[in-house]
Amino acid sequence: MPLTPKFTLTQFLIEERRRHPEATGDFNSVILNVAMACKHIARAVAFGALGGVYGNAGGAVNVQGEQQKTLDVLSNDAFLRINEWGGQLAGMASEELEKPYEIPAQFPRGKYLLAFDPLDGSSNIDVNVSVGSIFSVLRAPERLHEGEEMDFLQPGCTQVAAGYAIYGPTTMLVLTVGNGVNGFTLDPNLYEFVLTHPDMRVPEDTQEFAINASNSRFWEAPIKRYVDECLAGTGGPRGKDFNMRWIASMVAEAHRILMRGGVFMYPRDTKDPSRAGRLRLLYEANPIGFVMEQAGGRASTGRQPVLSVQPSSLHQRVGLVFGSKNEVERIERYHLEPRRDDFSYPLFNERGLFRAPL
Ligand code: F6P
Ligand code: MN
Repeated sequence: MPLTPKFTLTQFLIEERRRHPEATGDFNSVILNVAMACKHIARAVAFGALGGVYGNAGGAVNVQGEQQKTLDVLSNDAFLRINEWGGQLAGMASEELEKPYEIPAQFPRGKYLLAFDPLDGSSNIDVNVSVGSIFSVLRAPERLHEGEEMDFLQPGCTQVAAGYAIYGPTTMLVLTVGNGVNGFTLDPNLYEFVLTHPDMRVPEDTQEFAINASNSRFWEAPIKRYVDECLAGTGGPRGKDFNMRWIASMVAEAHRILMRGGVFMYPRDTKDPSRAGRLRLLYEANPIGFVMEQAGGRASTGRQPVLSVQPSSLHQRVGLVFGSKNEVERIERYHLEPRRDDFSYPLFNERGLFRAPL
């Protein structure tokens, strides 16, 4: 069989660096180390029950009060161990850790910050459904490279790179360095990420939406209206039928949307008054938002572009809507329009799929 040359992630980064003669190579090292951590996790995920990695991590709970799985802990450790030593990072923040991770004293510190959700889609970990890792690279503030909590509180528009790895039927790494979005498939022979999806674009229109409909009674009016209109299909105001999907792995959902369009919603709701939404701004909404925007899609809280939100705490949650541009913009418009507390819109009444609470 003739040997076909493959364009690997390493080659891709070298080419990118050629366009920035001032670059030191530190940035490339950060991305390659992240990719290495993802390969490690991909391996563990692929062995599944055979690898003894299923189940709960001895009853441990994370900072969000959620039960940690063995694979959550393993993935978090992979990110920390593989990224701590290289000298490019000032600190790391993980969804699994209450405080930022301090780079151990024996390693040099650098100018970047890394924030990550080491394994997204927790409820799918032990049941062989796609999960993934999400990462966001920020610049550390000039003064001290200490990686304190406040250093991470930068709006998403300041990210220098972001992406995710999806551990599905194939493992893929999807990356933006602020210059479009590229997808790399893990070649199981070379165990290298190979560029297979250059310049990924989210279609602007869609007939597919993803939302956890079991929360419908907690949704705010603009989301109720949007979903209601989609469900009304050809006979409703949208004049077309929609499909619904819900994997409960945001990474998997984001990947599907990147490949063929769609809109994802985990909006702010009234389920838990102590939080603004379900997903975390720094580890989930910002990196996925950056990828979406770089692929021509859109990411919003419903009220403002997600990348413009000024974070106030490390584990802050936020309402999140992303995907095909025209649908996200429509949802934003519904949030801007006068409140429909009277639910006078016909779909909320006689033909209502979601009736107004009494
Ligand atoms: O990390 C949060 C997460 O697992 C996302 O990947 C996913 O979209 C969401 O939670 C699922 O939430 P729910 O369990 O409410 O459907
Ligand atoms: Mn997650």
